[in-house]
Amino acid sequence: MTGQRAVDVAALIDGIIASLVPAALPQADDHDTLARNRQWLLGLEDEIITLFYDSLYAHSATAALFQDGERAAREQTLRGWWQRTVGAPVDLAYFRWMSLVGIVHIKRRVTNPMMLSMLPIVSERVVTRARADLGEAEAQRLQQVFSRLSTTIGAIISEAYTMGFVGALEDLAGLDPKLTARMLDLEVQRIERESRAQLS
Ligand code: HEM
Repeated sequence: MTGQRAVDVAALIDGIIASLVPAALPQADDHDTLARNRQWLLGLEDEIITLFYDSLYAHSATAALFQDGERAAREQTLRGWWQRTVGAPVDLAYFRWMSLVGIVHIKRRVTNPMMLSMLPIVSERVVTRARADLGEAEAQRLQQVFSRLSTTIGAIISEAYTMGFVGALEDLAGLDPKLTARMLDLEVQRIERESRAQLS
């Protein structure tokens, strides 16, 4: 067996953020808009959670990945994501946590396209509701915020997922193919464990 490389989540995130074109990242105005609308955004929690899982359970490719009776637990973890995303400043610690979110999905075979496709669904609902509740000007500002936020979250989730997957495969290169599937699962568990330890 080839050597296992240490997982360095901080370096991974720094690299991803550094590679994003700066204008695509959330700007000072965006943070102000989020802060100004924090209570209103937190109030959308039930609606966003229902929309998110109704969408995933209504689509056979994504519905197939859930275990029986899992929905309540999944809704609970997504509530945590929503509260952290709109309830506190979006900072480096938040972006590092997003990399863990990418990594935890690998073992369940949730793909990057599945994860990325949920971001506009969430954003569009926020903007539609903002237009009704807050007026057109604020809805446009929130649209800009969620566009930059989605790009950044999407880049981090998907790159962390890919780097986790590819890193595990590279470590396993040269193994007997029959062992590879089992070893890959073990590698992915190790990456998740080390990432959790670094981020706790
Ligand atoms: C933007 C998209 C998504 C976000 C932000 C998100 C967020 C999260 C979070 C925060 C967790 C818990 C992480 C932890 O254990 O610390 C999680 C777990 C999970 N998510 Fe997602 N998720 C997304 C997309 C999806 C999609 C598209 C699916 C299914 C097709 C999915 C299925 C799951 C499953 C099955 C788990 C449990 C993983 C485990 O067994 O540990 N997620 N998600």
